[in-house]
Amino acid sequence: MENVLDASGLHTYYGASHILHGVDFRVGRGETVALMGRNGMGKSTLLKSLLGIVSPRRGKVVVRGRDVTGLETSAVIRHGIAYVPEGRGMFHNLSVREHLVMAARKGWDGRADWTYERVLETFPRLAERLDNMGTHLSGGEQQMLSIGRALMTNPDLLILDEATEGLAPLIRREIWRVVRHVKDTGIATIVVDKNVGVLLDLADRHVILVKGEVVFDGGPQQLKSDSSILERHIGL
Ligand SMILES: Nc1ncnc2c1ncn2[C@@H]1O[C@H](COP(=O)(O)OP(=O)(O)O)[C@@H](O)[C@H]1O
Ligand SMILES: [Mg+2]
Repeated sequence: MENVLDASGLHTYYGASHILHGVDFRVGRGETVALMGRNGMGKSTLLKSLLGIVSPRRGKVVVRGRDVTGLETSAVIRHGIAYVPEGRGMFHNLSVREHLVMAARKGWDGRADWTYERVLETFPRLAERLDNMGTHLSGGEQQMLSIGRALMTNPDLLILDEATEGLAPLIRREIWRVVRHVKDTGIATIVVDKNVGVLLDLADRHVILVKGEVVFDGGPQQLKSDSSILERHIGL
């Protein structure tokens, strides 16, 4: 079956710094892929390279069989990708309701599974804060709004970069609950997160980056049965 995403041979630079060194990265339909690696290894840069936020100098990005290499980010995401970036603070003077309503769109195939009502059912906290301005939300609520907004675009692939970073345990649990729910509905996900335990339990496949190169690509069983891989590359 056709992959949702197929990237090959990606080389990305920031000025003269060569960050990604020929990365191959794919995501199958409905697959949950954990993108792992220590800080500064190139995880966020890989995600940005997939989305055209930074332009890889070499390599190719294919979304559902279409070459999107070099396209504007807005064009790439129209092929069915939703991105929740690292950090928050991207909320302007809009209410929660406005944020969600503005994000609403059908999937590339006309799917409209994720509606305003469904997002509010999924995140009851947001339903209680509809008239709040995005900037007046707690960190956890902002993250929920980010994810809610991403789901409103009815993506095939949801990308979460450190979505639980800096959040209280209760809010983290809430976010993981939603990620599992999203997985159960058949949406593919790329998850970057520090909580390796959760990732081992959640992901179908794990990709580990070291200095901009893929050093591991395999299933959770493989990582669980050979603890030296995580020790060496993640430091556990
Ligand atoms: N905008 C940027 N300009 C220059 N260097 C950057 C920029 N963003 C990230 N880097 C560098 O690229 C490398 C990879 O960073 P990043 O992709 O953010 O890693 P990760 O997400 O795995 O922590 C790091 O050495 C980082 O310092
Ligand atoms: Mg990062």
